[in-house]
Amino acid sequence: MLFKSFIFESADSLSKIKGVASMKSMPLEQRANVIFNIAKQSFGYIGMGSNRTAFDIGNSKIIKISYSESATYDIGSSVEQTRSESKVCKIAQKAQLIPEIYEVGDDYLFVIAEKVENLDDGSKEKISSYFKFDTYEKFENALKIVSNNAKATSKQEIEEVKAHRDFLIAVTVMKDCGYAISDMVNPHNWGLDPQGRPVMLDTGLTTDNKAEIIAKQQEKIKNLSKAQQPSQQTQQAPKTNSSFGDGDKTKNVRPVQKQNNNSEEKTVKAFAR
Ligand SMILES: Nc1ncnc2c1ncn2[C@@H]1O[C@H](COP(=O)(O)OP(=O)(O)O)[C@@H](O)[C@H]1O
Ligand SMILES: [Mg+2]
Repeated sequence: MLFKSFIFESADSLSKIKGVASMKSMPLEQRANVIFNIAKQSFGYIGMGSNRTAFDIGNSKIIKISYSESATYDIGSSVEQTRSESKVCKIAQKAQLIPEIYEVGDDYLFVIAEKVENLDDGSKEKISSYFKFDTYEKFENALKIVSNNAKATSKQEIEEVKAHRDFLIAVTVMKDCGYAISDMVNPHNWGLDPQGRPVMLDTGLTTDNKAEIIAKQQEKIKNLSKAQQPSQQTQQAPKTNSSFGDGDKTKNVRPVQKQNNNSEEKTVKAFAR
């Protein structure tokens, strides 16, 4: 009986969410906010990034709403990331590197996807050890090398990366799909599937939209630091799983790493040969 009423309530909340998403006369940002509040009241909270928030809807599924309580939330960036994510890349799916997407909301206001096990900072080694790196730092360094963000890459470092074939295959697949591989460095963007394989749960950032999204994020950070009074600077912002660390005041004003898409692409191709 209890179980039945839970299912009914969940289905009802989902219908409400879908209904609100389709209300084209309501401004996009307002719809996102209303949907977020319905989800917050109805489902278990899982995690929040700089632009989107995931809730558990049962049945091993999540709903990811294009809304976040992050200080740098931007509706345009949010729906753009949901749009990219909903254009499922077939090779990445075949390689089981991304979760299954079941449904996409109107105007990309949400996606319903396969729920994967979240990784906290303490369990991030599960990703690096799957790819046979001794430490997460070594995995991070290998990602930097293939992204060509590392200032100097020695022959020895390249050999070290080449020795991790599964890692190179994963990076190459993600790159061929057009995903921004720099986002793979954030452990919060990874989950584990039931077989314990790492799955990239956030594929919103691509080589096409990355520059614009990062620029908007930087602009928000700049405006925030300008607007902050000294007394406000000690206040805690909501904690996010953001790659940009916007849940952390000390990182808030940190300049976002400069990206170089072309060199990133060339390096991955060279490694993939
Ligand atoms: N498929 C999923 N299964 C489980 N948790 C997820 C899934 N997708 C997202 N999450 C959780 O929601 C958080 C925010 O989602 P994410 O896609 O990273 O948003 P953003 O694009 O704002 O960074 C993630 O850090 C993770 O904790
Ligand atoms: Mg994320």
